[in-house]
Amino acid sequence: MVEFVLPKNSRLIEGKTFKAAADAKNIRMFEVYRWDPDTQENPRIDRYEIDMDQCGPMVLDAILKIKNEIDATLTFRRSCREGVCGSCAMNVNGKNTLACTKAIDDYEGTVKIFPLPHMDVVKDLVPDMTHFFAQYASIKPWIETQTPPPADSERLQSKEERAKLDGLYECVLCACCSTSCPSYWWNSDRYLGPAILLQAYRWLADSRDENAGERLEELEDPFKLYRCHTIMNCTDTCPKGLNPAKAIAEVKKQLVQKNLG
Ligand code: SF4
Ligand code: SF4
Ligand code: FES
Repeated sequence: MVEFVLPKNSRLIEGKTFKAAADAKNIRMFEVYRWDPDTQENPRIDRYEIDMDQCGPMVLDAILKIKNEIDATLTFRRSCREGVCGSCAMNVNGKNTLACTKAIDDYEGTVKIFPLPHMDVVKDLVPDMTHFFAQYASIKPWIETQTPPPADSERLQSKEERAKLDGLYECVLCACCSTSCPSYWWNSDRYLGPAILLQAYRWLADSRDENAGERLEELEDPFKLYRCHTIMNCTDTCPKGLNPAKAIAEVKKQLVQKNLG
């Protein structure tokens, strides 16, 4: 039988435990992945007891409490704390989510917090998003036009045309979907993944864009698009309730129509 073992420098070592104050009555345990590139040490899981009577309700509240009051060395990204910037994406109890919009009470027992899976780790809970955003830039996320704009107005949309962007414009590029997609895990060098493909469809669906032909030609590639095997992890995990798998199917449909036409 084939035996899989982690390389030596990926094996977890014993972490530290931080106890709550002796008089704390409402304690929850948080286990957090830690890795510091400036030391030669392997990653570890640190354990933090938190008094929930002194902590806000969201996972991000607990992480901020750890950072501010218990262990200032913990490193993570966050900005808006209301599900808009997409920067606090991480894996909590096995599922990718936004820490700021995820309630601690949605979990029972110990809360286990890891960086987004299958990404290089910069430090602790911070994944390296360089490749992800280079892929985003590659789909030209802006309106491209051939015709001059109307002389006396902007390029307008009807209500129906605007409605076609619903379910797409809300994407905050958190990468929860892409990093839960097995096809992206194995082929992220060439497969664009669900987040970037949803964004690609967002511009294909925009009535003001006049570059659909070139956009579709760019996507017609066995790796960029066709590594999606409709596994649906992406749609299941999206913390904004979006459906990247459906957007990918729409791109494929547009390609079929283009090739038939
Ligand atoms: S539906 Fe496609 S993009 Fe979504 S998780 Fe599955 S393979 Fe990945
Ligand atoms: S589709 Fe959802 S999970 Fe994927 S990047 Fe956008 S907001 Fe995040
Ligand atoms: S902090 Fe902005 S989405 Fe969570």
